[in-house]
Amino acid sequence: MTATLDPTPAPVGRPRDSRIDAEAAAAFTDVDILRELEPLVAREVDRHIAKHKDWHPHDYVPWAQGRNFPMLGGEAWEVGQSQLTEEIRTALVVNLLTEDNLPSYHHEIATIFRGQGAWGEWVHRWTAEEGRHSVAMRDYLIVTRAVDPEALERARMVHMSTGFASDHGDQLLHGLAYVSFQELATRVAHRNTGHLSNEPLCDQLMQRIALDENLHMLFYRNVLAGAMDLAPDQTLAAVYDVVTKFQMPGHSIDGFARKSLQMALVGVYDARQHLDDVLMPILRQWKVFERTDFSPAGEATRENLAEFLAELEAQAAKFEQMRDARNERRARKAEASN
Ligand SMILES: [Fe+2]
Ligand SMILES: [Fe+2]
Repeated sequence: MTATLDPTPAPVGRPRDSRIDAEAAAAFTDVDILRELEPLVAREVDRHIAKHKDWHPHDYVPWAQGRNFPMLGGEAWEVGQSQLTEEIRTALVVNLLTEDNLPSYHHEIATIFRGQGAWGEWVHRWTAEEGRHSVAMRDYLIVTRAVDPEALERARMVHMSTGFASDHGDQLLHGLAYVSFQELATRVAHRNTGHLSNEPLCDQLMQRIALDENLHMLFYRNVLAGAMDLAPDQTLAAVYDVVTKFQMPGHSIDGFARKSLQMALVGVYDARQHLDDVLMPILRQWKVFERTDFSPAGEATRENLAEFLAELEAQAAKFEQMRDARNERRARKAEASN
């Protein structure tokens, strides 16, 4: 399947006719869209700030559990110092390394959003909020000795040295679509990691971060909804590209394939959650499958999208069957050895 980029977006609320098509023969440029959406972005920044509850990373860290490491005469880290499972430790490290790459994300969105006016205000506000996430998670993990601090630091160096580059270059609509899905995906992964940790403080921290991610998602989702009204075909083409090529923001973490499989097997983030809890709720909000303002080319893109989602549904079901069978085998094995 390939994305179809219709060069003739229909202005919302106006009937399509050949004159209008001729007027709109050139697709909106990113500069056009930045300008057209600026008032919406300004309203969304205000809405976000009004909704966002301030919080402090230090409140979420059990400092009394902290103790020195060998350089200051204390004890070295070893795995038995934490009750968390290997899978949850993996998820926490992946979630933290993902947050750690903030300088690269900042660079990407500052480039895509051009950093002026309300767009620029959002870029800085968003970056400041995201900065809390890695601060809070790292303090929690080190103080509770949940993960090997040296391995974590080595992994951070490797990951940040790799950096993060958008799969779609500096295209605005692609960037907006990606961050809409990515923020919700991150929310789901953080929330599930907390729940599955069986550790109340870990859960409390991860739920707190997940709330921030949800507000970020709402901002991007609402701004992209404005783009969809402004340039339906063009925006849908970007959404199609992003959905069909989606990768988690931490995909360049060393060993990510193995780590993400480990996380999927315990239910931190799997294909079912990606489809049902991330892609579909956002696509529904944009009314992608109900809109009547797509041109024939836009409708073709929508059909391709529906086809892709049906394939993803089949993959999700297959993974669930495989996981169920694996869990049953493991349960039988554990019973037999008791
Ligand atoms: Fe974050
Ligand atoms: Fe976020």
